Amino acid sequence: MTLHLPKKVTIVEVGPRDGLQNEKSFIPTEVKKQFINRLKNAGIKEMELTSFVSPKWVPQMGDATEIVADCLDSTTRNIVLAPNQKGIDRVLETNCKAVAVFVGVSNTFNKKNINKTTEESLEELKPIIKNLKDQNFFVRACISTSFYCPYEGKIEEEDTLKLCSEFVAAGVDELSIADTIGMASPGESYSLFTKIKEAFPHTLINAHFHDTRKMALTNIFAALQAGVDRFDTSAGGLGGCPFAPGATGNVATEDVVYMLDRMGIETGIDLTELVKAVDMVAPYLSRKIDSTYYRLQHA
Ligand code: HMG
Ligand code: MG
Repeated sequence: MTLHLPKKVTIVEVGPRDGLQNEKSFIPTEVKKQFINRLKNAGIKEMELTSFVSPKWVPQMGDATEIVADCLDSTTRNIVLAPNQKGIDRVLETNCKAVAVFVGVSNTFNKKNINKTTEESLEELKPIIKNLKDQNFFVRACISTSFYCPYEGKIEEEDTLKLCSEFVAAGVDELSIADTIGMASPGESYSLFTKIKEAFPHTLINAHFHDTRKMALTNIFAALQAGVDRFDTSAGGLGGCPFAPGATGNVATEDVVYMLDRMGIETGIDLTELVKAVDMVAPYLSRKIDSTYYRLQHA
C-alpha cells in the first residue's frame, strides 16, 4: 500500500484558547502571555491566542484584550475567537488581523454554546465575515460537532458539508472541522475529510480533534490520507469546551509533532522547546498533563 502523505504539515496551536478556556481557576494573564511566547519560541506559526466571548460565560477568557495587546507579532498568524458582533467590535479595538468564528452543526449544541440556533448564528455571521474580509482579515470558521454532538448524537455528513458550504460561500479562508467530543472513528475521519477536500478545493481545511477516546492520532493519520495538511492541536493535550459535556483535551501538539517527525513530515516545531512551554504553564493548571510524549520526557 502506498501512503499519500504531505511533506509538510501546519500546526495551529490552540492551547492558549481551547486549552485554557475550561480551567476553573483564573490563570494569571502574565502566565498566559509567557505560555504564548514560549509556544512561539518552539516554532508555532499559527495560534489561537484567546477569545472575545462573554466573560460571564467563560471567565477564563476575560483578559482577551490584555493578551492581544502584548502578544501580536509579524511572524505568527495570531488568531482570536469571536462569536458575535459584540466580540468583533472588541477585536476591532485591537491590532489583531485574524478571527475565528464558531458554530455547531448541531442546533442543541449551538444553543448551549452561544445561545443561538445554527441558522441564527449563520445569519449573524455572514455579514460579519464579509466585513472582516473587506478589511483584509484572515477568517476561519470552526465547525463544532462535525461528527457527533453530546446532545444529538451522530451528525450526518451531509449536514456538516452543507454548513461548510455556507461558510465557504460567505468567504472564509479556512474551515476547522471539529470532533468536539472526540468520538469520530478513523473511517469517519477519512470519509468526511475526503468529501470536504473534494468539495472545497480553494479553502484551507483543518482538522480539530479532541482526544477523549484516544483516537485523535489515528483520526489525524486518516485525515492525512484524505489530503489534510493542517491540524489544530494543543500543547500538553489541554482543552475542552465548557458547554460540551464529556469533551476532554485536544490532541497534544507534542504527540502529533512526534508522530509527524517519525513519518518524515516537517512541522518546524522544536519538541524540546515545546515541552518547556508546557512545563511553564503546568503548575497553574488543575489537571495533570498526560500526553504520551510529555510523560516520557519526565519519566
Ligand atoms: P448571550 O447571553 O445570549 O448574549 O450570550 P447577549 O447578546 O444576550 O448579551 C448579554 C450580555 O453579554 C450583554 O451585556 C452583552 O453586551 C454581553 P449586558 O448588556 O448584560 O451588560 N456580550 C458580550 N460581552 C463580551 N464579549 C462578547 C459579548 N457578547 C455579548 N462577545 C454569547 C451569547 C455568544 C456572548 C455567549 O453565549 C458566549 O460568550 N458564548 C461563548 C461560549 C464559548 O466561548 N465556548 C467555547 C468556545 S467554542 C469551542 O471551544 C469549540 C471549538 O474548540 C471547536 C470544537 O472543539 O468543537 C472552537
Ligand atoms: Mg475544541
